[in-house]
Amino acid sequence: MRPLSSLREPQLRPAAAASASSLLPILSLLLFLIFIMATLLDCQISWAIQKNTCLSCHLGSSKHELARCAQQWLKSAHALVSVCCEECHGGNPTSPKAPIIGKEGFIGSPSKKQIPGLCSRCHDDPLYMRKYDIRIDEENQYKNSVHGQQLLNNNNQDVASCVDCHDSHDIRKPDDPQSKVNHQNIAYTCARCHADRNLMKPYGLPTDQLSKYKKSYHGQIVYQQIERENPRLAPSCPGCHGIHSGKPAGVSEVAEACNNCHLNCKRYFQKSIHSLLLKKNRKPRCIDCHGYHDIPIPSEELFAGKAASHCGSCHPPESAEYQCGLRLRALIKQAKREAALTQSKINQLKQDLDIDISSLNLKMDDVTENLKQAVKATHSQDIQIVSQIITKARKIMNTIDQRIDRCYQEARQRREWLEHMLLFISASFALIAYQRSRLKNKLQDIH
Ligand code: HEC
Ligand code: HEC
Ligand code: HEC
Ligand code: HEC
Ligand code: HEC
Ligand code: HEC
Ligand code: HEC
Ligand code: HEC
Ligand code: HEC
Repeated sequence: MRPLSSLREPQLRPAAAASASSLLPILSLLLFLIFIMATLLDCQISWAIQKNTCLSCHLGSSKHELARCAQQWLKSAHALVSVCCEECHGGNPTSPKAPIIGKEGFIGSPSKKQIPGLCSRCHDDPLYMRKYDIRIDEENQYKNSVHGQQLLNNNNQDVASCVDCHDSHDIRKPDDPQSKVNHQNIAYTCARCHADRNLMKPYGLPTDQLSKYKKSYHGQIVYQQIERENPRLAPSCPGCHGIHSGKPAGVSEVAEACNNCHLNCKRYFQKSIHSLLLKKNRKPRCIDCHGYHDIPIPSEELFAGKAASHCGSCHPPESAEYQCGLRLRALIKQAKREAALTQSKINQLKQDLDIDISSLNLKMDDVTENLKQAVKATHSQDIQIVSQIITKARKIMNTIDQRIDRCYQEARQRREWLEHMLLFISASFALIAYQRSRLKNKLQDIH
């Protein structure tokens, strides 16, 4: 861990890491021993915190803003590992007197620009952080983000430092529902600044990201208006912008973040002329047809019409490209109609004959899966690829149709057989009745 005093000379910081690698075996042994000791000394550590004068004086302070920091710290992830006041503020935690800025390393309330260095003293130090199972690339990512560059290079006080997203004292683990960076809360944390008109005005940035995002398909999943087993799979702001608002891994620009999750669409898209010519044209990218903050549920209508993001917004109606879109739409629509028809036949079968249709429904799931695949395949703009997948779906629908026919046929045969049986039985009864009356008559004749 770097000393707190190094904050004032940020250029000197990285030296320690290189020489550390040669000492690795000894250090790991040492760390292991420290770990054992730390476990044994756990009780003493919490006792030491109680003896921490910064904490006890601030907790007892009648001034709300002085006590609040200490109260919030008690609930934080840092309290659990005894990262106490002096680790960030300096000063002597055993002195009974209030510290004085500049004495015994006390820095008071750190300036905004000091904060990233303050946190990364520990969070960027692989040796110190090794025993905790968390990422250690925060500062690097942060430095590459617009926020980091603006703060560190231009001392811009409007942008986010670590504590604007994490809080300064109430710092919690991301999976804690009360954490400001939790999957459900982070969009609101970003919006505290990004929905603030006055703050965003000088930068000419729109302030509609949160309101659009909440209405988008992704936002509706995260806020559970659309039910999904794991809403965490849908991105919130960091899912596309990167956790520390640099860029997500493996992506050269934010607009490519879609590729990290929508692998199938990407695969088909890469087969298209659109993708081949993307470098030259810069269009169309995923976001030119889908939007980004306000992504709606896409439909076949994107293939027709001139509205923004529809094929017609770039290709005139008489062009071969537009006609290709219309053919894709016709293919998908026709296949969906056929699937709906087959499903209704299955439902009718259940109503008519009241038999178990679960195996047919299982086959229908395969059809749906293929149709979904066909929709994804439209990204190739290749009629043949899409037709092939639809043909597969049709084959399954044909076998379903044949099975349905067979069911009706078997039912018909069973009914006919039953009718014959009934006829036979009633004939037999009639015969018995006839024989009986004849017998009766005969007996009467004898008497
Ligand atoms: C005897 C009580 C007492 C002790 C012990 C104490 N503080 Fe304070 N602290 C105060 C008071 C009172 C203030 C407000 C001082 C002021 O407004 O000038 C304060 C202010 C602060 C501030 C805000 C300074 C600023 O620039 O706004 C920080 C940060 C702080 N203390 C941290 C610490 C740390 C770290 C320790 C332990 C090394 C510590 N305090 C120990 C009473 C105490
Ligand atoms: C993980 C680092 C960290 C720890 C641990 C920490 N603080 Fe702070 N503290 C900060 C930062 C960063 C600020 C500046 C906040 C800002 O600019 O919004 C701050 C600000 C303050 C202030 C000024 C009032 C304010 O809200 O701006 C006081 C008082 C304070 N801390 C007291 C404490 C006390 C007491 C403890 C121990 C219980 C403590 N801090 C533990 C990082 C820390
Ligand atoms: C003295 C070293 C130290 C300093 C300084 C420090 N931290 Fe930490 N931080 C830790 C340790 C140790 C943990 C506990 C990790 C764990 O429990 O997995 C932690 C945990 C966290 C966590 C929770 C992560 C998780 O998933 O558990 C966040 C978020 C965090 N720190 C942010 C900050 C921020 C922001 C600052 C600066 C204001 C800061 N830290 C300053 C050592 C430090
Ligand atoms: C723009 C907002 C933002 C800023 C600025 C920011 N963070 Fe984070 N941080 C996040 C989000 C979001 C997460 C991850 C939440 C998740 O995993 O779902 C996170 C996660 C973390 C974690 C936990 C990592 C883990 O694996 O559990 C640490 C530690 C952390 N940040 C430290 C920092 C430090 C240090 C800085 C400053 C250099 C910083 N953050 C700046 C938003 C931010
Ligand atoms: C403390 C306020 C604050 C918070 C919190 C904050 N930002 Fe920012 N952000 C800004 C400011 C101010 C700018 C403009 C900087 C500039 O352009 O020079 C900015 C710029 C950006 C940009 C670059 C925009 C562009 O095209 O120029 C992105 C992207 C961004 N923020 C995303 C996020 C995300 C995602 C979060 C939450 C995880 C977040 N921000 C949290 C203040 C904030
Ligand atoms: C589905 C991915 C995705 C999500 C989720 C997302 N963004 Fe974006 N964001 C983008 C893309 C793509 C751009 C445009 C980048 C470009 O034009 O190169 C962008 C642009 C921005 C900009 C620049 C100004 C603008 O509006 O065009 C800001 C600021 C921003 N996003 C903040 C946010 C915030 C805050 C959230 C959460 C409420 C968020 N984003 C959620 C993908 C996303
Ligand atoms: C972190 C992963 C992730 C990222 C990044 C992401 N998405 Fe998504 N997206 C999802 C998930 C999960 C769903 C929900 C799928 C479902 O269950 O319906 C979804 C749904 C969609 C849908 C609706 C799909 C449907 O079934 O009708 C579209 C369109 C979409 N995303 C486009 C995009 C675009 C465009 C981008 C980039 C700007 C993007 N996504 C970025 C995970 C992601
Ligand atoms: C030229 C316009 C265009 C581009 C570029 C484009 N898409 Fe699409 N996308 C569409 C159309 C049209 C549909 C819907 C077809 C339908 O529902 O019949 C669609 C559907 C989707 C769906 C929903 C699929 C489903 O299962 O329902 C996702 C997810 C998606 N696109 C993601 C992406 C991603 C990721 C990229 C970038 C690699 C991308 N799209 C590029 C036009 C486009
Ligand atoms: C944002 C603009 C944009 C949108 C929207 C768009 N395209 Fe394109 N498309 C292009 C560009 C640019 C080219 C390259 C054409 C060129 O350079 O002549 C292209 C080429 C094509 C080609 C290849 C033509 C050839 O040379 O073989 C087809 C097919 C095509 N688009 C179909 C579609 C369909 C279908 C849609 C709607 C789903 C669509 N496009 C939406 C911009 C767009």
